[in-house]
Amino acid sequence: MSLEYHNDKLQFGGQDVTSLAGRFGTPLIIYDEVYLREMMRRYHAVLSSHVEHYSVSYASKAFTSLQMIQLLKEEDMEIDVVSSGELYTAIKGGMDPGRIKFHGNNKTREEIEFALSQGVNLFIIDSLDEILLLDSMADASVDVLLRVNPGVDVDTHEFISTGQTDSKFGLSISDGTALKAIMEIEKKDNLNFKGIHYHLGSQLSDPAPFVNALTAVYDWLHDHEIDIEILNMGGGFGVRYTDEDISFPVEEGFDEIFTRLKEVTSQYGFEMPHIIIEPGRSITAEAAVTVYEVGTVKEIPGVSRYVSVDGGMSDHIRTPLYGAEYDIIPVKKQTDDTGSISMNVVGKLCESGDIIGKDKSLPADTARGDLIAVKSTGAYHYSMASNYNQMLKPAVIFIAPDGVKEVIRRQTLDQLIQNDVRIEE
Ligand code: LLP
Repeated sequence: MSLEYHNDKLQFGGQDVTSLAGRFGTPLIIYDEVYLREMMRRYHAVLSSHVEHYSVSYASKAFTSLQMIQLLKEEDMEIDVVSSGELYTAIKGGMDPGRIKFHGNNKTREEIEFALSQGVNLFIIDSLDEILLLDSMADASVDVLLRVNPGVDVDTHEFISTGQTDSKFGLSISDGTALKAIMEIEKKDNLNFKGIHYHLGSQLSDPAPFVNALTAVYDWLHDHEIDIEILNMGGGFGVRYTDEDISFPVEEGFDEIFTRLKEVTSQYGFEMPHIIIEPGRSITAEAAVTVYEVGTVKEIPGVSRYVSVDGGMSDHIRTPLYGAEYDIIPVKKQTDDTGSISMNVVGKLCESGDIIGKDKSLPADTARGDLIAVKSTGAYHYSMASNYNQMLKPAVIFIAPDGVKEVIRRQTLDQLIQNDVRIEE
């Protein structure tokens, strides 16, 4: 991420952050388009160095918008969706339906109908009843993967750990349900079994669970003589939210993963499958910062200092929800000698848990009207934003070599009540 001070003023992607905040208002989410493209290219480079047939399928839940879809198209990316809304955005953004994969543990009848009518042809089946539902609705054969739980341990927050046996997602390979599902799919006229999907969890910095999952899944495929054309290893590649975090080592990690994959496929005499990966966060998280304006500063003598900003858990839910830590920096670098002190950066919403960062070191003279930037907010921030307290969703801009683009306008007050119905007496 190209974030640096120039004459003591923060610049992002070569643009002056204070001027951007003046032009677009705050809270403002600023993406570096160059970084987004670099990450997409990095995955292409790594996968193409190991296998002939692969897809990099961006998990659009991390951040989606029409311009994001445009970028994905330009960078030859495919896309995952989990709802009619994500699908609609992808289609409206011009994504080829043949490059869209439909995920989700509870796809509704309407969603399946919509996806089929748009020409989506790869569904990731997540449950036994979905097999019946999809087969009954498809009038020509659709390709399906089965989401399985390989039962490997991952080191991450409980809420974003998904590949274990006790999970609302997928079917377990250890209790026989995944095998049963494949047998059911094979019997259906309208379903074309193509392979296996798993997603182990998110924010993983260690390749070991991916390697272990390959062992578990291929032992199981071999035991039950199941042939697959496609293997989808999911996403979850970790990022640096703070300087202390370790990101997933993309090049070395995939070296280990593909070494194991080549071993297990040749050991059991399987063909190398078409590989799909589904990175979301690792493409977008470090590409963005959120800029807020400071308002009230409250000193509790001898206890703490609270710095309130003009957003909060309506655009920054990951700290309240997962205890996620972020680095927070001043937009104007401190030049005098007042020093930095520890303070709590909080939002303006009516919850004590509306915290952006506890005990963050910021200039002691931080005061109303100053700007601060929270780093690595490009994934699951805008997409998880809410209107709690009737807060407006922020504006989103992309910084690119050809200029600054407003890609999502700030919500307006009128938009907040546009669906409200007032019953006249
Ligand atoms: N594939 C599947 C099937 C997934 O469920 C997910 C994320 C991904 C790929 C992408 O994972 P990523 O590369 O972005 O880690 N709101 C949480 C994350 C929930 C993740 C849900 N699934 C957060 O803010 O950490």
